[in-house]
Amino acid sequence: MNVHGKPCRTIWLKKKDPKTVQIIDQRFLPHRFVVEDLRTPEDCAVAIKDMHVRGAPLIGVAAAYGMYLGAMSLSAKLPLKAWLGRMKSLGAYLIKTRPTAINLRIGVERQWNAIRGAATVAEAVRLTREAAGALAEEEVENCRRIGEHGLRLIEEIARRKKGKTVNILTHCNAGWLACVDWGTATAPIYAAFNKKIPVHVWVDETRPRNQGASLTAWELGGHGVPHTVVCDNTGGHLMQHGKVDLAIVGSDRTTASGDVANKIGTYLKALAARDNGIPFYVALPSTTLDWDMEDGVAEIPIEERDPEEVTHIQGLSGGKMTRVLLTPKKSPAANYGFDVTPHRLVTGLITERGVCPASKEGLLAMYPERKTFQP
Ligand code: MRU
Repeated sequence: MNVHGKPCRTIWLKKKDPKTVQIIDQRFLPHRFVVEDLRTPEDCAVAIKDMHVRGAPLIGVAAAYGMYLGAMSLSAKLPLKAWLGRMKSLGAYLIKTRPTAINLRIGVERQWNAIRGAATVAEAVRLTREAAGALAEEEVENCRRIGEHGLRLIEEIARRKKGKTVNILTHCNAGWLACVDWGTATAPIYAAFNKKIPVHVWVDETRPRNQGASLTAWELGGHGVPHTVVCDNTGGHLMQHGKVDLAIVGSDRTTASGDVANKIGTYLKALAARDNGIPFYVALPSTTLDWDMEDGVAEIPIEERDPEEVTHIQGLSGGKMTRVLLTPKKSPAANYGFDVTPHRLVTGLITERGVCPASKEGLLAMYPERKTFQP
């Protein structure tokens, strides 16, 4: 997508210095556009953990680049076996940075599969660079296709509404900032907007870190998509009053049965959507599918973050980024990062291969190779 009129991704290798990975440091958006240099796997781990980069597909790609940076920093004089052992430990370290999004594991596994048969350390280093780049490109293409498939759902509603504006509600940031480009939940919206279908997006602010208010609003605005930021408790009211035609959210991990982990508050939106007969879709690439898990509520690890993200809020004041206390100083706070929406509340999954029911059968029909898959 474009930033200030120029094409931009969320992560890339620095021009003329491929030993440096560059990212948009999302902590400063929407007020400042900051590019950060990552030079070591530790830089990558901090960027993931402290959410300079965030969003399931993007942290998967960041982990893959973390492996690349690690591969370069490990001594090429190590025997191959010892070098691979160090890379394995590095992968485990990167996977631990955040627990919910399975994409982190996918990013590390792709690297491991790329290097484990290498003949020399030098060859393995080259392979890590290629594998990180390939995963980034794959995610861009996944999102582009999700956009194409999701577009049909929006077109159908626009037809039914005889060209009146289609109102879409989204939660958190499942946009291009959460991926490498396009986004998952936002890709169909951009595709519809680009086709001149009138769309309007209700953007949940998404407390505590406000990814909706800060990031989704910024990226939709940057592309000219009409949108309105609402506080997190507003969705049910909007749905009751016919102001939402469709909800599309992203996912951090979706199980083999179609249960969806996404940003905290997603489940409540799905309940409200069900009560009001509003279609509730989840857009995700196959890198977000966890084929080893069935029961999302019981099995998906839910990240618990620093309670200070709840007790404090950050914004711009007098031109400066400022953080203020919201709660009584001594009130304890809890900060669950994600919740799980059971598949029964999900109308369908928008994947890079098409739209399918959120069920084991639906997913296996979309990914038939998994019927015989042995991990
Ligand atoms: O904590 P975050 O900001 O990494 O959470 C991100 C989300 O929950 C997104 O909705 C999800 O990763 C889908 S991204 C395309």
